[in-house]
Amino acid sequence: MLSTLRTRIVATNVARLPARSALLRPLARAHHCPPGQDSPLNTDNQSKTGEQPAYGPIGVAAALHHAPGDPAPAPTLFAHEFSLADRVALVSGGARGLGLEMALALVEAGARAVYCVDIAREPSDEWRTVRDYAARMQGKGGEGRLEYVTGDTTDQAAMWKIGQDIGDREGRMDACVAAAGVLKSHTDCLEYPAAQFRQVMDVNVNGVLFTAQAAGRQMARFGNGGSIILIASMSGSITNKDHAWVSYNSSKSAVLQMARSMACELGPKRIRVNTLSPGHIYTNMTAAYLDTQPHLLAKWASLNPMGRIGRPDELRGVVTWLASDASTFCTGSDILVSGGHHAW
Ligand SMILES: NC(=O)c1ccc[n+]([C@@H]2O[C@H](COP(=O)([O-])OP(=O)(O)OC[C@H]3O[C@@H](n4cnc5c(N)ncnc54)[C@H](O)[C@@H]3O)[C@@H](O)[C@H]2O)c1
Repeated sequence: MLSTLRTRIVATNVARLPARSALLRPLARAHHCPPGQDSPLNTDNQSKTGEQPAYGPIGVAAALHHAPGDPAPAPTLFAHEFSLADRVALVSGGARGLGLEMALALVEAGARAVYCVDIAREPSDEWRTVRDYAARMQGKGGEGRLEYVTGDTTDQAAMWKIGQDIGDREGRMDACVAAAGVLKSHTDCLEYPAAQFRQVMDVNVNGVLFTAQAAGRQMARFGNGGSIILIASMSGSITNKDHAWVSYNSSKSAVLQMARSMACELGPKRIRVNTLSPGHIYTNMTAAYLDTQPHLLAKWASLNPMGRIGRPDELRGVVTWLASDASTFCTGSDILVSGGHHAW
């Protein structure tokens, strides 16, 4: 039924387009373009580029399709491409830190519901305050709600059930952010205990896969495509100087390859999979180091050209871009947000 609805929406938009003769005008001009002059392409040719978004042509294609006498067009970039209006998302590790920051961003971008999955039985006061703040945006553009779900990402069956329950309740699943992760204290690689290594890999690798599966299975079920964002780290492609973090670094490398692998399998279903790799950002995870070893703040800040560590809110834009139609041709990519740490 959803696919019928979608076909109808596309058909309606097509019907609103100018007459075919007007659409072909730029192409006809192209055929007669003297050498050396710009020759506009036929922007209506979906067989080469995939179908236009349901809300019709955008950007230059929209400009070429609008006759000068048409009603004044409204900009579409934030109203449509970046908008998550009516979308549904699952965010693991959404109780605090980067997960909670990104969950709120998705609501502010218009998502109908963002489900924060985290291990604590009850959400914290901080999470409740953020949920209430989001609720007060209703009527002002932020129409969605934050929901809390207790779940251990390392439990595959439980995660699939959480995804299924969200799908049953909302009738769709559009975005997933797998942010639950752990970082252990300095542990020499030659002495690294097996149990601790397995624990880090369980949360940071298995848990990320089970989270992506939980959401991805629902995306496949509803057939609307979707965007899965795995939170890796710059530590997946560099080693943090003077820190013995072999389990964390290895786990984040695995996440980078997991995303590329899943992206290749899921592309035909229009499910995109990318990694977002932050640099040093001040959260509870890094506070365990920075608050106990104050000299590390200046040291970490000196390791990137911006001369500072990052704030969680500096991931709001990139997660919205990745979750939304603004990034529909981006999959299998790693987006580094590290203040330029890699540039040195
Ligand atoms: N803070 C940084 O500088 C930084 C940099 C790069 C990458 N990251 C990554 O970003 C993600 C979020 O980190 P953060 O800084 O917000 O850390 P954080 O410790 O503040 O938050 C992590 C959240 O994950 C949850 N979690 C842990 N294990 C879980 C499990 N098994 N099931 C469900 N939830 C679980 C925790 O309860 C917590 O709420 C992590 O994957 C981390 O590796 C963080």
